[in-house]
Amino acid sequence: MARKKIALIGAGMIGGTLAHLAAKAEMGDIVLFDIAEGMPQGKALDLAQCGPVEGFDAKITGTNDYADIAGADVVIVTAGVPRKPGMSRDDLLGINLKVMKAVGEGIKAHAPDAFVICITNPLDAMVWALREFSGLPHNKVVGMAGVLDSARFATFLAWEFDVSVKDVNAFVLGGHGDTMVPVTSYTTINGIPVKDMAKIKGVSESRIDEIVDRTRKGGGEIVGLLKTGSAYYAPATSAIAMAKAYLGDQKRVLPVAAYVDGKYGLDGLYVGVPAVIGAGGIEDVVEITLSDDERANLKTSTDAVEELLEACKNLDGDLA
Ligand code: APR
Repeated sequence: MARKKIALIGAGMIGGTLAHLAAKAEMGDIVLFDIAEGMPQGKALDLAQCGPVEGFDAKITGTNDYADIAGADVVIVTAGVPRKPGMSRDDLLGINLKVMKAVGEGIKAHAPDAFVICITNPLDAMVWALREFSGLPHNKVVGMAGVLDSARFATFLAWEFDVSVKDVNAFVLGGHGDTMVPVTSYTTINGIPVKDMAKIKGVSESRIDEIVDRTRKGGGEIVGLLKTGSAYYAPATSAIAMAKAYLGDQKRVLPVAAYVDGKYGLDGLYVGVPAVIGAGGIEDVVEITLSDDERANLKTSTDAVEELLEACKNLDGDLA
């Protein structure tokens, strides 16, 4: 059987990490695309030379030509500008919208059958715009945010309760940003609801609220520390989990930015929800029951996403 092909649009910090992870896992041959000349080629060469040491068989190439992504099974998009300290994800909108247009057109022309995972921020708006510009079916274009946000939530909870991260099943809904909705009622420590675990461990409700708040601002905390860019290890590994679910038809239930039309009272919007990823792409969106508070928080979050979509439509007449 021929190897799968994975195209990475954007060969920066996340793109390079994605290439390394995908190669190590022998997910397929990898094409790194970037507008910067020489950089994707240089990174590809460096990464290819990991092969003999790590023992993986994967062809890794770098390119500045969209024609080289032809026939890709999975495309992961990180092209754009990352957040700088003090910059909100929304400040990025204008710059990255133009990038999504170029990338969407490239995918449409050369890899229209791919499963496309968008990571570029502001995520919920960029994945929507990328879908619009590429014209691919909604179930084949998805955004990576929830896997990362839940991983952040799970990390902080595991630290607080002093338990293994493997046993924390964290649940996050809504847009990727300060309005995301960590759903504690669906978050468990191996089946034990967070509220119960907090009582057992003597952790106060306000401490859980602090953890929720830290999760919401998790990206910004890292930006503030790095000073020259944003997080890349955890975003990359989160997108790889989604790509594996598609390539392996795993039917995993993962929190992702999926197109929701009807469920959660939404009318054609990309937002973070639990969804089933298998060979059909996004095969289903799972609608969970929310408390009144959670529903209100989700509404705040989706309103913020809708505002961004309006801003995108004002910036580019093709989206109106
Ligand atoms: N086409 C292709 N690549 C592009 C384009 C474009 N039109 N515009 C910019 N790029 C490339 C840059 O040359 C750079 O190599 O995108 C890459 C982005 O890499 P980094 O700046 O290292 O950013 P990274 O940390 O990888 O984050 C990428 O993911 O989490 C989000 O907010 C983050 O939007 C940002 C994205």
